[in-house]
Amino acid sequence: MRSFILVVITSLLAVAYAQGSKGTVCGNQGLLGNSRPKKFVGDCNRSDSWGKLSSHNCFNRGGKKYLCVQDGKAKCYTGGDVKSLNMERGECFA
Ligand SMILES: *[C@@H]1O[C@H](CO)[C@@H](O)[C@H](O)[C@H]1NC(C)=O
Repeated sequence: MRSFILVVITSLLAVAYAQGSKGTVCGNQGLLGNSRPKKFVGDCNRSDSWGKLSSHNCFNRGGKKYLCVQDGKAKCYTGGDVKSLNMERGECFA
């Protein structure tokens, strides 16, 4: 019985964690430079693009920059920021 309760509590916590950790969903439309003349935003350079990835996957694959559009504005995050961004649908850069 006690272990059953533990399982229930653990799954409730897991659900709460999954919801709480839901990060920012970026509004990127396609990849940098594909539809607009802009090829760079800050340090994000189209030539270094690895395509659309979550910031988590970007960091895990060794990405160094992350471009996320929020409120219609593109921002290039660099360096250690990429690890802690918790963003999705942005663009990853080497
Ligand atoms: C972007 O990357 C390309 C290829 O490495 C390079 O030629 C270009 O100068 C870079 N542009 C900027 C603004 O860094």
